[in-house]
Amino acid sequence: MIRTVGVVGLGAMGAGIAQLAIEAGFDTVGHEVDAVRGEAAGDRISHFLTRKVEKGQLDQEARDAAVGRLALTTELADLAGCDIVVEAVFEELGVKHALFRALEAIVGPETILATNTSALSVTEIASVLERPERAVGMHFFNPAPLMPLVEIVRAERTSEAVHDAAYAFGGQLGKMPIRCSDTPGFVVNRVLIPLLNDCVRVLDEAGVTPEALDAGMRHGAGWPMGPCELLDLVGADVHVHASEALYEKLREPRMAPPPRLVRMLQAGKLGRKTGEGFYSY
Ligand code: CAA
Repeated sequence: MIRTVGVVGLGAMGAGIAQLAIEAGFDTVGHEVDAVRGEAAGDRISHFLTRKVEKGQLDQEARDAAVGRLALTTELADLAGCDIVVEAVFEELGVKHALFRALEAIVGPETILATNTSALSVTEIASVLERPERAVGMHFFNPAPLMPLVEIVRAERTSEAVHDAAYAFGGQLGKMPIRCSDTPGFVVNRVLIPLLNDCVRVLDEAGVTPEALDAGMRHGAGWPMGPCELLDLVGADVHVHASEALYEKLREPRMAPPPRLVRMLQAGKLGRKTGEGFYSY
């Protein structure tokens, strides 16, 4: 049974996952590499919960109790008592390997190690574990507190019990979990990444503005947000990196990041996080 949750890496995704966990009533330990980043994530989480109070979606007492369930740390050792640890650190295999090795040396034998990777292989991430059956993918969508889906990814050696426990935990977080296999891009990104790449290519091919393309997909295809707005939300860095990872595995030209997006990345126009992407913020 899951009582205490650990989240490693409190960027946009990790902070969102930690927010879900404290709102769902779990004592949660959030780890960042330095205290400044940890506190910034804690402030963002408090801000979003306060907004929910202001909008009448949460009462003040529940908000305060949720905030009180979050402990921030810069020491991995503080995750020793967690029943599940979800990592949302940088999308580099080497970084994930080092973290999983370090975590396995700290946590108990039954602790589930989950990765929020969006484009790496969960099987490959888990390959450094002594007990790879404890590893599972839990892929959330940005912004995690608002997007209902979580993909529960079964790696080659994930045990049935761990896959089931992660699925149940996704439901306890208020998400809609779906089970899937450890194939490149899992379910949604396998479809969404080439689609977003097509959208960026259309900008130049059809000579349309980001505003026109976004209006097209919002009003002609029912998207809640246009592709350029979405790419600015996700970040050119995250999207290009995921595209490259999928292209490497699938070798489909549509998976390769469009040159326009690569140029944006090189120019530091990553989207909302740098104040400029397709739009200015
Ligand atoms: N945590 C908690 N609350 C948040 C938040 C966050 N991270 N970000 C925003 N909010 C809150 C804000 O408080 C905001 O309210 P206020 O402005 O009043 O403060 C509230 O959410 C609602 O914001 P919006 O009015 O903008 O909400 P909306 O109805 O327009 O919906 C949306 C926003 C759910 C993001 C919607 O636009 C949407 O579904 N967009 C598509 C997003 C999408 O496709 N995501 C997937 C990206 S791909 C991915 O994630 C895969 C990958 O691996 C990279």
